[in-house]
Amino acid sequence: MDDANRMNAAQLNARFGLEAQLRFEANRDGMIFGVVDTPQCRGQFWLHGAHITSFQPQGHDELLFVSRDAIYRNDKAIRGGVPICFPWFGANPSAPDLPAHGWARTQPWTVHNTKQSEHSVEVELRLSQQPFEVTFRMEFSSALRLHLSVINKSAESQKFESALHSYFAISDIESIEITGLEAAPFLDQLTSTTHTGAGEAIRFNAETDRIYTAINDNPIAIVDPAAGRQIVVERSNSASVVVWNPWIDKSQRMGDFGDDEWKTMCCIETANIGAECIELPAGKSHCMTACHRADVV
Ligand code: BG6
Repeated sequence: MDDANRMNAAQLNARFGLEAQLRFEANRDGMIFGVVDTPQCRGQFWLHGAHITSFQPQGHDELLFVSRDAIYRNDKAIRGGVPICFPWFGANPSAPDLPAHGWARTQPWTVHNTKQSEHSVEVELRLSQQPFEVTFRMEFSSALRLHLSVINKSAESQKFESALHSYFAISDIESIEITGLEAAPFLDQLTSTTHTGAGEAIRFNAETDRIYTAINDNPIAIVDPAAGRQIVVERSNSASVVVWNPWIDKSQRMGDFGDDEWKTMCCIETANIGAECIELPAGKSHCMTACHRADVV
C-alpha cells in the first residue's frame, strides 16, 4: 500500500485536488469519493472500485443510472454507475466461491495522478494485485472517456477478462432501442445458446443478458426518443459487448436494486470476455477504452 492509499480527503485535496474542478470528500463511513465540476460536465467517482457514479455533460440529463438501494460498503460493489469487472467476468470458472465479476470493483484504488486542461479533468486511479497492475484513466469532458490499462507484472503470460459495466439512465426500457450490434453474434446467458446477428436493432420485452461478439469498433447507441437523446458508446480494443436488463423477477431478487428500477436502466458493457479474453505476455500491457456521450435527437 503506498501513501496515496492511506490519504484522507483533506490530504487528497492538497495533493490531487484541482481547485473548484476536482475535490475529494468522504461519506459518513469514511469512503472517499471525488467530485468533478467543470464548465463541460459534472461527475462523481469512488476510490472503492474506481467506480464512477455520475456523469452529466453540460446541457444534458444524467447519463448514468445508480440504484436508490445501492449499498456503499467496502465489501460490496455499488449497484449502478460504471463498475469495473476484472480480472474475470461473471462467476470465476475455476473457483466459483470467489466474488462474481472479479476483485477490482471491491478494492480500494489509489489516486495516481490528476490534471486539468481547458476542456477536461483527468483522473488516474491505480490498483496493483499480483500478477497485474491496473490503471483506470477517466477523462471528464463533454464526453466521459475511460481507459482501462492492464500490465502483466509476472514472468509468465496471463489471461484476463474485463468489462466496464456501464449502467445507463433511460426513459423507459420498453421504448428504447439499441443500434450498432445488428450484425454481431451473441451468447444468450439465460439459455446458454448462441445466435447469429439478428439483423435489427435490439428492443426489450423480457429479461435480457447477452454477450455480443462485436469485433468491429462501430459506435453503439441507446436511442431514447422520449428522453430526446441518444447515448453513444464508442469502444476500442474491446471485442465483446454485454447487454443486460434484469426485468421484473430478477429486480425483485436483487437486494440492492429497486423492484421497479429495471424500467429506467440498461447496461451496455465494453468488454473482453470468454473466447475474447486477453492473453497478455509477461511484461506487456493492454488498454481497452470506452467513450460515453449524449447526442440530442
Ligand atoms: C451482467 C451479467 O454483466 O451483470 C449478468 O451479464 C449479471 O448476468 C449482472 O446478473 C449483474 O451482476 P452483479 O454481480 O453486479 O449482480
